[in-house]
Formats: sequence, C-alpha cells, structure tokens
Amino acid sequence: MRYRLLALGLVAVTLTGTACRFEQRLPAASSGEVPFVALRLPDSLIPNSEVGRSIRRGRAILLATRDSLPDHVGNRLRCTTCHLDAGTRENAMPWLGVYARFPQYRSRNAKMTSIEERVNACFQRSLYGKALPLDGSAMHDIVSYFAWLSRGVPVGSRVRGQGLIRGEPLPADSGRGRQVFIANCVRCHGADGEGITVEDSVMGTPLWGEASYTIGAGMARVRTAAAFIRHNMPFDLPGTLTDQEAFDVAAYIDSRPRPDFPGKERDWPLGNPPPDAAYATDASPSPSPSPNR
Ligand code: HEC
Ligand code: HEC
Repeated sequence: MRYRLLALGLVAVTLTGTACRFEQRLPAASSGEVPFVALRLPDSLIPNSEVGRSIRRGRAILLATRDSLPDHVGNRLRCTTCHLDAGTRENAMPWLGVYARFPQYRSRNAKMTSIEERVNACFQRSLYGKALPLDGSAMHDIVSYFAWLSRGVPVGSRVRGQGLIRGEPLPADSGRGRQVFIANCVRCHGADGEGITVEDSVMGTPLWGEASYTIGAGMARVRTAAAFIRHNMPFDLPGTLTDQEAFDVAAYIDSRPRPDFPGKERDWPLGNPPPDAAYATDASPSPSPSPNR
C-alpha cells in the first residue's frame, strides 16, 4: 500500500513537472505553435490498461511493420524508416500532434481524408504494400499510438518540428548528386542504393529498386526528399550537407528506378500537382518541366 502511494506520488510529480514546462512555454502556443510536450512523457506514463496495450501494440507495428503485417508490406522499409525515432524526431515528419491534424483536405486526392486513410496512403505508396482494413485492430492500435503522441496538442495548432524544413527550392543536378551519394551515403545504403544489412542489423535501407518506396510516395518528390535528407542524413552526421548537396543527391536518388504506383495518373485530379510531382497525371498530362528535376 505504502509502495503504491509512493509510486502515485512519483507519477504526480512527473505530471506536474510536465504541466509546468507546458505552461511556461504557452506563449508559443498563442503564435500558433505548441511545444514538443508529449515527447517528454516517459514510457511509464502509458497507462497499464487496455488503452496502454493498444498504444504499445501500435508502436510495435510502426517499428516492425513487415514482421507485424507481412501481407501489407511489399518492400524492406518500415514506417519509422522515414518517421524517425518512432515518429518523435523533429523535422523528420513526426507523428506528434498528428491526431489533431485530421481529418484534412488533401489536394492529391482532392477530398477530406481521415487519419486512417492517411495511414493507408503510406502503406500503399511508401511501403509498396496493401491498405489495412479501416476498422481492424492493427489500424486501431496505430491510431491509439498517434493519439497518445498527440495528448495536449490542440486541434488546428502547429507543432514545433512538424513535417520537414523545406528550404528554397534549388535547381538540382543528379550528376553532382551521384558524387554526393558516393561520398556520403554508400557506406550505409550501398553502392546501388540497395541497402546494407550486416548480421541481421540494418545499416541503411534501400533507396531505390524493388525493395524501396514507390514512385507515388512523397519521398519520390525531389523537394520532399531534399528536405528530409538535408536535416536527417547522413544518419550519423545529420545537418552536414549543404542545401545544394541535399537537392542534388535527392535528384539522383529520385531519378533511379523504383516500384510503380498503379493509379498515380488519378492523383491531383483538379490539375494542381506540385512543381516536383514525379509523373504526369490525367488532369495534367504534361506538367511544366520543373527546374528542380
Ligand atoms: C519512404 C518514406 C516514408 C515511409 C516509409 C512512411 N512514410 Fe508516412 N509520410 C512520408 C512523407 C514524405 C509524408 C508527408 C510529410 C510532409 O509532407 O510533411 C508522410 C506523412 C505521413 C502521415 C501524415 C503526417 C502529418 O503530420 O500529417 C502519417 C500519419 C504517416 N505518414 C504514416 C505513416 C505510416 C503509418 C507508415 C507505415 C505504414 C509510413 N507513414 C511510412 C514518408 C514516409
Ligand atoms: C550511418 C549510416 C547512414 C548513412 C551514412 C546514411 N544513411 Fe540514410 N538512413 C540510414 C538509416 C539507419 C535509415 C533509417 C532506417 C530505419 O530506421 O528503418 C536511413 C533512412 C534514409 C532514407 C529514408 C527512405 C529510405 O528509402 O530508406 C533516405 C531517403 C536516406 N536515408 C537517404 C540518405 C542519403 C541521401 C544519405 C547520404 C547523404 C544517407 N541516407 C546516409 C542510415 C544512413
């Protein structure tokens, strides 16, 4: 009993500590940003209940996607290959607050999109796999984890470190990019972008070819890949490339062959593809050639 009281006391102290930090930083929220509060929550605060078990299962699926759902993953990536640190790293498309960002209008399909549909878009496009049933237990668990990571984040706010840092687009040269790749990426991702695995440990994942993301993935767009790479790669030396090097190496990677995404011609049905869209669509049969590709 005594032990239990002590434990409760500890939790209370931790919670108050977090709450204080949150309040101290509240001015940021009024300018449209909320601080990265949830990241500071220790694992021990995941409730020891059905809810907590669902949160933990969801995180496990995102970290070991292919082992968990082999029928739904067609390549050698996992969800956290791009959403680093289980979706908690700033400027690496963190899932912090993501539960408060949906439903969302998306121009790629020109409709309101639920968080479950957004999850399936990454299953199909980034993992070259199959959509999950919208109301199945795997989807529920993934969304539980997202909701846990979004505690205290108001609907409609922007979280610091959300998405990617997108700098000014630069004209890219994939020939120069190949040199950047050889100098900085080959040691983990392999000379042919195939990924390197040493004794079951992944040094680097496939960047192109059949085991990588599809042409319909966000990462197949040069600006998106450049923004990810600029601030997150090389994995052990993030931030060491120049903006130009990041654009060049992104253009090189995204010029390599990768799985097709059937139905991509129906993307951006209102004819408003982004300038770095990687393919023509029905609504924009010949997109104006972008200076960035
Ligand atoms: C190859 C890289 C890659 C992989 C692997 C990947 N994603 Fe994504 N994901 C992206 C990109 C790029 C975006 C768009 C980010 C942006 O433009 O800010 C995104 C966005 C998202 C979003 C919306 C985030 C937000 O803040 O609105 C969710 C949710 C998501 N992904 C879930 C998943 C899930 C679940 C998986 C595994 C099934 C996964 N992703 C695998 C690249 C990836
Ligand atoms: C020290 C090893 C290492 C180096 C060097 C490195 N990476 Fe990575 N890279 C990783 C790891 C590890 C991941 C994430 C794998 C995971 O957790 O599933 C990753 C993920 C990626 C991804 C996410 C999508 C995918 O297809 O895997 C891209 C893109 C990427 N790296 C590009 C690069 C580029 C470009 C360079 C060189 C500028 C580079 N990396 C250098 C280890 C490395």
